[in-house]
Formats: sequence, structure tokens, C-alpha cells
Amino acid sequence: DGDPRVARISAAIRVVPDFPKPGIRFRDVTTLLLDHQSFKDTIDILVEKYKDKNIDVVAGIEARGFIFGPPIALAIGAKFVPMRKPRKLPGEVIGEEYTLEYGTDRIELHVGAVQPGERVLLIDDLIATGGTLRAAISLLERVGAQVAECACVIGLRDLKGQERLGSKPLFILVECE
Ligand code: PRP
Ligand code: ADE
Repeated sequence: DGDPRVARISAAIRVVPDFPKPGIRFRDVTTLLLDHQSFKDTIDILVEKYKDKNIDVVAGIEARGFIFGPPIALAIGAKFVPMRKPRKLPGEVIGEEYTLEYGTDRIELHVGAVQPGERVLLIDDLIATGGTLRAAISLLERVGAQVAECACVIGLRDLKGQERLGSKPLFILVECE
């Protein structure tokens, strides 16, 4: 990537070996949040990319998609919709199970939060196997939304998450091995 901001963003992400399980190299974005310039650059790059793409809704995936999604939504003039872990949303929900790099989980969405035909930008901090984003896309499509694109700060190349998304456009800021 030719953007000098990306090298600094990459350097600000801490790698924690063997968390939460042996063999996992955990990419910790909390250190990126401590570097004001890198956090701002991360949001600015995504806002520049999506501001004129007619995005109605930014959907963020719990928990770390809640860090990056809302500032993007505010800057591009879109709504923010949280996609949450089970039993957190109080209204009527639809849900989808998925498998993780280290376990299984379920994601839920409030029925009515996204209207049929709305254009959604789906945000998370990281794509590993792609299971989480795949489940989120399925849920959004089940309510009739159009997932215009997915964007993650970090992509783990070896886990081939991109392939799981099929032809769905995916933007990754920092590619890791
Ligand atoms: C992490 C990460 C992504 C997901 C990526 O979240 O923030 O949401 O895993 O993995 P995948 O591409 O293999 O699906 P995690 O499930 O650890 O939840 P948390 O953010 O609530 O800690
Ligand atoms: N989610 C799935 N794999 C991860 C990793 N290696 N680091 C941080 N979050 C993750």
C-alpha cells in the first residue's frame, strides 16, 4: 500500500502471542486506539473511501466493530446499527450461528433496524476465517438489505476469510500473515 498512514496504523496494532488460546497470534487494536493520529487516520481513510457511496447504514459487529463503525457512520451521514452477541438486544431479533478461529458464536440483529433495499457498509476490526462477516451478511440479506461492501482494519491472509465472502467486496486496511 502506498499510503504512508497505513504503515503507522499497522505498527500501532499489538500482537499478543497465545491469546486467548495457544497458537493464536491475537491482533490487539486497543493499542491503535492509544495512538490518536493512527486512530484518526484509520477512520479518515474509511470515511474518504465510503463518503460518496450512498451508504444508508453502517452496521458494526460486536465488540470491536462498535469502535470503528460509529465514527464512520457519523462522518458519512449514515445510521449506525449494532450486530450483537446473543441475548443483548432487547427488541425482536433475528440471529445466525457461525464458527470462529477459536470457537462458535451467534450474532443477532434487531428486526426493523435495517429496511429492505437499504445500502449497508459492514464494519469489523478484523477478518480471520470470515465466519463472522459471512453470518452478518446473511442476516442483513435476510431482512432485505443490500450489503454494498465490508471493511476491516485487519485481514489475516492465511485464514482465507475473503474466499468465504464469495464475490462480496471486502476492503482491508492492514494485511497480516
Ligand atoms: C473477533 C473479531 C471478529 C471475528 C473475526 O471477534 O473482532 O469479529 O473475531 O473472526 P472470523 O473472521 O474467523 O469470524 P470475537 O468473536 O473474538 O469477539 P469480540 O470482538 O466480542 O471479542
Ligand atoms: N479474531 C479471530 N482471530 C483473531 C486474531 N488472531 N486476533 C484478534 N482477533 C481475532
